[in-house]
Amino acid sequence: MNYKVLIIEVNEEFRVEARRELLRRGLSVRDCNNLEEGISALREDGDIQVVLVNWRSRKTKESQGTDIEGEIIFREILKVRFEVNLFLFTKEKDPRKIGGKGLITGYFYKDDRDYDDMYRKITAVVKEKQQAPFFEELVRYASKSNDSWHTPGHSSGDSVKHSPWVRDYYEFFGHNMFASDISVSVPALDSLLDPKPEGVISKAQELAARAFRAKRTFFVTNGTSTSNKILLQTLLKPGEAILLDRNCHKSVHYGIIAAGAEPVYLTPSVNNDFGIFGPIPKKRLYATMDQGLAAGKKLKALILTNCTYDGLIYDLEEIIAEAHKRGLKVIIDEAWFGYANFHPAFYPCAMAAGADYATQSTHKTMSAFSQSSMIHVNDPDFESIEDFFMENYMLYSSTSPGYPMIASLDVARKQMVMEGYRLLSNALQLAEDLREAVNSLDGFRTLEAEDLISEELNGDGIRLDRTKVTVDITRSGYSNKKLEHLLLSDYGIQVEKTTFNTMTFLITIGTTRSKINRLFLALEALSKRKGTGGVLRPAEPLNLVLSEIKFLPRHAFYCEGVYSPVQKCEGRIAAGMVVPYPPGIPILVPGQAVTREIITYLSTLFEKGVEIHGMQEGYINILTPDEEAELARRGWAISS
Ligand SMILES: Cc1ncc(COP(=O)(O)O)c(C=O)c1O
Repeated sequence: MNYKVLIIEVNEEFRVEARRELLRRGLSVRDCNNLEEGISALREDGDIQVVLVNWRSRKTKESQGTDIEGEIIFREILKVRFEVNLFLFTKEKDPRKIGGKGLITGYFYKDDRDYDDMYRKITAVVKEKQQAPFFEELVRYASKSNDSWHTPGHSSGDSVKHSPWVRDYYEFFGHNMFASDISVSVPALDSLLDPKPEGVISKAQELAARAFRAKRTFFVTNGTSTSNKILLQTLLKPGEAILLDRNCHKSVHYGIIAAGAEPVYLTPSVNNDFGIFGPIPKKRLYATMDQGLAAGKKLKALILTNCTYDGLIYDLEEIIAEAHKRGLKVIIDEAWFGYANFHPAFYPCAMAAGADYATQSTHKTMSAFSQSSMIHVNDPDFESIEDFFMENYMLYSSTSPGYPMIASLDVARKQMVMEGYRLLSNALQLAEDLREAVNSLDGFRTLEAEDLISEELNGDGIRLDRTKVTVDITRSGYSNKKLEHLLLSDYGIQVEKTTFNTMTFLITIGTTRSKINRLFLALEALSKRKGTGGVLRPAEPLNLVLSEIKFLPRHAFYCEGVYSPVQKCEGRIAAGMVVPYPPGIPILVPGQAVTREIITYLSTLFEKGVEIHGMQEGYINILTPDEEAELARRGWAISS
């Protein structure tokens, strides 16, 4: 496989010699004599995996002699490409005068002129990164075609391949799908729930931790929905509280029920021009933390989604530092942002910004199979809770995890380390090209961070993940539903998300220029056809009406409740979750007071025919008076 070594070396003699010697040993090499050129090489050439750099360098080609040194050089390089390996190549003899602060991979003393050693160490490091130990072992095992006397019952496909009825199942998925779907009875493949120190799952998880900047990484085969629940149940004891965005994914709300925790909600910002719920303003976040602590709530953790579904990125470092100051652990749900450590356009990822935990849907934005997720850990106190974490990990895990999924996590990590930067650079370029082309069309306009955020976020340092392209369709003449329908029926294009006047397209590492141009041509044709709908206006401003939590969600959840017409529920307490789609944010969670405002809100949506989960023909589940009285009698009412 072709990767490159970049030599940044001011001394002509050593630069030429090192290049010649490494080339002679079969490595691909680029070289330059100053940091500025080195950094532009790193930006433009995603194949560079290793940088050989002197302790002292020239900043630019105009510099007179060396004018930049040591750690500053390493940091400048890692700011652009965190995943490359740095090797020091120096004439400094005294090891006490140099130091890498954990930033460098290795050291070579120039006058040793031991290029064989250099070659071996460089190739060993890259070889290590490009392993996919679990995937490789799975391939090896499957190719042996061992007789299987264990589960799964399809026995590598033998139960179906000659069937007159279901042979198509075998043919569609192919032999390898069956051969790699193996049971946990195969010791060579380690065990997800009890990985052996030298096992291939341990090794794969270790490599993932290194790649994603975590101390520990755990693979999860039931999606980030499960990763979130594992963490909430680990970090929160019954009655302890967590601060969360009301707009957090529903797995977080369910995790709170399961943990028996008290939710302290943060109301997201709202952009009514485009019907978008955005990040939580910093001021509100800090004030809610302080109020919660002042009210005596046992606040233990904060969970936020970064980036948001629409690609809005928080200024995480400051927020995490503020939460830590107040003694909270921080979990960042990076379901949509797992690639953030592989391109400076997205830095810092949650782990680099200081989060204690991050959950990632490796399947959503990287190359893993559906449901494949990772939990990354940097919590300095993790060791003391590791056993309890493992109990919760097992509580939510199948004892028969899908091996193809584990393999896909291993390979997705390898891909991001080896070519993530290049793929993301390409995705970012495609996104900009799409923006430019769409903006040339009548009736369509792409939105920037300033358009997507609301005023209350001004000064909060919110950035846009530019691979998420949101198009304003207000003046297209089409409604969102009409446009979504036409794109699918006439052009075979499925959109990720719409609001009443926007459409969001996700550019991923799998997006091709053909796809981008097909999308543009479809929008161009629709722009020429011009819809007849006139200018779109929001029917009503988005309004997230919240009310008090009277009982812990878990206590209310375990009550049977009674379904009652929503109109008659004022003053009662919800027993179930009620979630209108869109926007998919729970309006009621178990234990929450039903107020007149909430009734009006839900009734209006119901009359408009909005899909509302947890509401059946205008009825919602509420606690019976007896249940309320019983919860209160047990002393389970929450003081606000
Ligand atoms: C913010 C967020 N977190 C978690 C999840 C759940 O992820 P998964 O589908 O991997 O279970 C989603 C899914 O859409 C999500 O949007």
